[in-house]
Amino acid sequence: MTMSIEALRRTNAQHMLHPMIDPKAVAAAPPLIIDRAQGVHVFDIDGKRYLDTVASLWNVNVGHGRPELKAAIMAQLDKLAYFSTFQNTSNPPAIELSARLMQMFARENMKKVLFSSGGSDAVETAMKLARQYWQLQGKAQRTKFISLKLGYHGVHFGGASINGNPLFRTAYEPLMPGCFQVESPYLYRNPWGEADPARLARLCAEELDRAIQYQGPDTVAAFVAEPVQGAGGVIVPHESYWPLLRAVCDKHSVLLISDEVVTGFGRIGALCGARAFGVAPDMMAMAKGINSGYVPLGATLLNERVASAFEQPGVPAALMHGYTYSGHALACAAANANLDIVANEDLAGNAARVGALLNARLPEFMRYPHVGDVRGLGLMSALELVADRSGKAPLMVATPYVQTLVGAARSEGAIIRVQGNRLILSPPLVFTAADVDETVRILHAAFAHAERSLS
Ligand SMILES: Cc1ncc(COP(=O)(O)O)c(C=O)c1O
Repeated sequence: MTMSIEALRRTNAQHMLHPMIDPKAVAAAPPLIIDRAQGVHVFDIDGKRYLDTVASLWNVNVGHGRPELKAAIMAQLDKLAYFSTFQNTSNPPAIELSARLMQMFARENMKKVLFSSGGSDAVETAMKLARQYWQLQGKAQRTKFISLKLGYHGVHFGGASINGNPLFRTAYEPLMPGCFQVESPYLYRNPWGEADPARLARLCAEELDRAIQYQGPDTVAAFVAEPVQGAGGVIVPHESYWPLLRAVCDKHSVLLISDEVVTGFGRIGALCGARAFGVAPDMMAMAKGINSGYVPLGATLLNERVASAFEQPGVPAALMHGYTYSGHALACAAANANLDIVANEDLAGNAARVGALLNARLPEFMRYPHVGDVRGLGLMSALELVADRSGKAPLMVATPYVQTLVGAARSEGAIIRVQGNRLILSPPLVFTAADVDETVRILHAAFAHAERSLS
């Protein structure tokens, strides 16, 4: 650090805009400044240690400060930091990563990858390639997208247009025309009042079917969804839901795009979320866990059906899409080392095992009157906060109760995240049973403190 601690705080307040928050709120409550990290812990500029229960932003899956990633990045840096993959140039780490990804997702019949710099890019790429795919099939009128209410697909204009939460949309409207949302399989709140997950899955799939028919199947390019909706509040569908989605898409020849930005690379106990539900999508948008956030990287994977459209002899199919940092050598080198760890340490299996321990403890929190629902799959969980249980009115992040809760967790030594009215837990996939115990202990202390503050 070249700046003093005070200068850091002052300069942050003066010059930095922070994503996803009103600048005035940052000025009122200055941010926690994280200075270093190791394993499942991070340290602030005052040296205080916190358990990272959110893997920073559901992405530092192999944990912080892994020497293997550092070594891979340093070794790559000694040879080549960057050279473009536009047109006819390439680089070895990107090529190696493409082969690994195809091997990892051979079961989903993935054949090609287009790299980018993050999740929003990966979604944007999938949407644009879906439209180009239909043009190449001679069906240029298939341009529309259908997605889920409460879905989150990043912040670019395409992704924002298919996001299913007005919070991410209204300030930037008008967005892209031709994007429509259907109900998500949200057991705690759904318009049918349906409390049976299998019946809810069927109702949702039927609604998708009707939406496609209403739009006209020949005008719909793709349906886009997260296997488990993350930012929307960890909405875990019934096991029948994704197979039903696949069947509806197939019935109308609509492409199925799985947004695996959070669920990719093990978080819900399988190497990708669609696989956890036994479904092979047509495209997958991936980022975060691909290299655990050590260097920004996104990837859009195309299956045989989509990839082959670009290879038809005599049909011009130039990809007029891509980013300066598509296939960035350092990012790809980090991904190759990261994916070795994911495989060697069976992080998907660990997420399933340790996630089961965590999710089994969550019902304990129903003893607090402001917890309305708890849910999770693998290392992806949420506690839904409500003002009152019977009315289910959301208890939002800006309320004194939630601010007290978050502050108390910090004092106890954990960073927790409340998105809207959902306390989200998405720890590194290297989490242990002891880390679960510590998370649960801190959360109990924080809830007890928040409850006391009300009286
Ligand atoms: C499901 C999903 N898709 C896309 C994104 C956007 O990724 P990024 O923030 O890397 O652009 C996110 C980010 O959290 C996400 O959760």
